[in-house]
Amino acid sequence: MEIYADNAATTKLSSSALKEMLPYYESIYGNPSSSHTAGRKAARAVKDARADIAGCLGCLPEEIIFTSGGTESDEQALISAAEEGKRNGKTHIVSTAIEHHAVLNTLEHLRKQGFSVTLLPVGSDGIVSVQDVMRAVRTDTCLVSVMYVNNEIGTIQPVSEIGRLCREKKIPFHTDAVAAAAHIKIDVKAQDIDMLSLSAHKFHGPKGTGVLYVRKGLPVTPLIRGGGQERGRRAGTENVPAVVGMACALKEVYRNIDKNSARLARLGEMLINGLKAVPHSALNGSTERVAGNVNFCFEGIEGESLLLLLDSKGIYASSGSACTSMSDEPSHVLRAIGRDDRLAGSSLRISLGDDASEEDVSYIIDNVTRSVEYLRGMSQEWKDKTAGKLKFLL
Ligand SMILES: Cc1ncc(COP(=O)(O)O)c(C=O)c1O
Repeated sequence: MEIYADNAATTKLSSSALKEMLPYYESIYGNPSSSHTAGRKAARAVKDARADIAGCLGCLPEEIIFTSGGTESDEQALISAAEEGKRNGKTHIVSTAIEHHAVLNTLEHLRKQGFSVTLLPVGSDGIVSVQDVMRAVRTDTCLVSVMYVNNEIGTIQPVSEIGRLCREKKIPFHTDAVAAAAHIKIDVKAQDIDMLSLSAHKFHGPKGTGVLYVRKGLPVTPLIRGGGQERGRRAGTENVPAVVGMACALKEVYRNIDKNSARLARLGEMLINGLKAVPHSALNGSTERVAGNVNFCFEGIEGESLLLLLDSKGIYASSGSACTSMSDEPSHVLRAIGRDDRLAGSSLRISLGDDASEEDVSYIIDNVTRSVEYLRGMSQEWKDKTAGKLKFLL
């Protein structure tokens, strides 16, 4: 049995997206900037993809910039707002402690450039408080950036409320919606979002392509200077097959979102209930999370060892963010919700795909339960805890 349960890291390319992409490799391969017919056909495809994505997000086509993915979109959003802020004498940015490193590391860069950054804490539920955002903004705040859905624990942030607050105060609001788009229909106008990042590979599109939405009128700083593509906001020949695939995948996800989310929510609940039965374990973050994301700590084990055992059973999961899986540092997200470092190192993230079945979930519960038991049997920490020499945390 093989179960891919790491959809928060990346998803399988949709077969209809692949089908729509292929002609743009094989026959319609002109450069969209060329004025001949082959180029115009490619330009038409880019234009249609832009209009389709704008239609999904509720914005204008010219408000969509194609990028190389979530990391680039996040960085461009933050740098653009920061530069505009600096021009207006505003150098304070508000964000949260649970952002992806694409945001956190850009904020660190800006801090070194003289910006002051307030990173708001979150509660043990993994959700930032709107009141905290309200209290943090100042007259010199040039940007509020709060992710829509946390990629590790799946918790959904109060984006519409923060958007409304920022709009009232005329502060640009960016949201990293990379982990949200596969699960939540976004309407940037209704939600008062000024800038938003997407990454196609998180919603069954191709890797290496993404979107930055920027509300009309907000200045954009190009990170890549060169030709005049994307109205001078992002130079480089457009990745035509990828943007075609991304638009197809987003439309498909949006068409099926209600049906898939309801199914996945049921499976997620079954998984949570099954794993809760493991003694001294706990769900990380609130149940206000996207369907199919289940993140647990199992006291007394190493998350990495659990992953290896699960891998040998054909279950592909993760301990947190794929981008930091090579680092020994405990997850900043689990720390932010108050988990102690050892507990944070015992985490498992399972992110189910649309094709998951009840049988898959039972197989996962069974194997996680056995593997945790096996690892605890070999753990000195566990022995000390059961002998009463050390205290249980959970
Ligand atoms: C919330 C979030 N933001 C940004 C990114 C970066 O996206 P990309 O892989 O397209 O660079 C990721 C990827 O894991 C993510 O989960």
